Amino acid sequence: MTNQPAPELLELEIRLLMEGIYEHYGCDFRDYSKATLKRLVSARVAKEGLGSITALLDKTLHDRSCFDRLAGDLSISVSTMFRDPSFFKAIHSEVFPMLRTYPFIRIWHAGCGRGEEVYSMAILLHEAGLYDRCRIYATDMNQQRVEEAQRGVYPLKEMQEYTRNYQAAGGEHSFSAYYTARYGNAIFRSWLKENIHFAQHNLVTESTFNEFNLIVCRNVLIYFNRPLKKRIHELFVNSLAPFGFLALGRQESIGSYFSSPYEVINIQEKIYRGLKSGY
Ligand SMILES: C[S@@+](CC[C@H](N)C(=O)[O-])C[C@H]1O[C@@H](n2cnc3c(N)ncnc32)[C@H](O)[C@@H]1O
Repeated sequence: MTNQPAPELLELEIRLLMEGIYEHYGCDFRDYSKATLKRLVSARVAKEGLGSITALLDKTLHDRSCFDRLAGDLSISVSTMFRDPSFFKAIHSEVFPMLRTYPFIRIWHAGCGRGEEVYSMAILLHEAGLYDRCRIYATDMNQQRVEEAQRGVYPLKEMQEYTRNYQAAGGEHSFSAYYTARYGNAIFRSWLKENIHFAQHNLVTESTFNEFNLIVCRNVLIYFNRPLKKRIHELFVNSLAPFGFLALGRQESIGSYFSSPYEVINIQEKIYRGLKSGY
């Protein structure tokens, strides 16, 4: 931006932009954290070669492709396979033993991004002999991300890092057995997708659609403000099967939103378990 406006004016412009997007396109970013919006919107103003957020509002409303670019910015999706290997290790040792007692297991990856986390979980479940009785729902608000996740194709150059993560997470086989290398890409095996249902779902505007034994929502809530986090935690409580597990990202927690419907399974890895058989 050429001249940075006073903070109150900047906040007003961002609010108007988010209202405009909500009214016109039905996408609700109004309760994303102020710091996140400020950073991403300011960067978009510069990339579009504009002078102000108000100019971005004008362009966004009249040019669908500009809206798509901004929505892409706002659905930040940076991930790796077996991100935080100790998290996957904890899921394996502290959650799988309970899941093993169920004849059928439903898992929801909410805000799955490009699917790295989902394939990581599928591989782990496969190695634990649990994959065949799982139904995994992988959802994201961004349709493009959902399609990328469904494709399961990642740059081959990432595989060294993913292999290290996989091994650190307790992976038991050769990681390269899970993909085919072609033209600089790693194409993940289609059997890994057999029990995964990919779909668009917006945590802000849509409701629960099933009952899950494990909900994984990592690195999504950090972008939301407190009232929105609370609403989404309510959605999770209503979506968990009795004694179901909830797994969040490193910088996230269930906070003080409820009197305490969860017991802590692993505080470091942010893994919780529903306390009661229904809430
Ligand atoms: C940083 S990525 C996290 C990906 C993955 N969970 C992980 O930790 O590796 C955040 C994802 O949350 C999605 N997201 C943001 N707001 C959302 C919403 N309201 N509903 C559903 N997904 C959302 C974004 O589109 C993005 O793909």
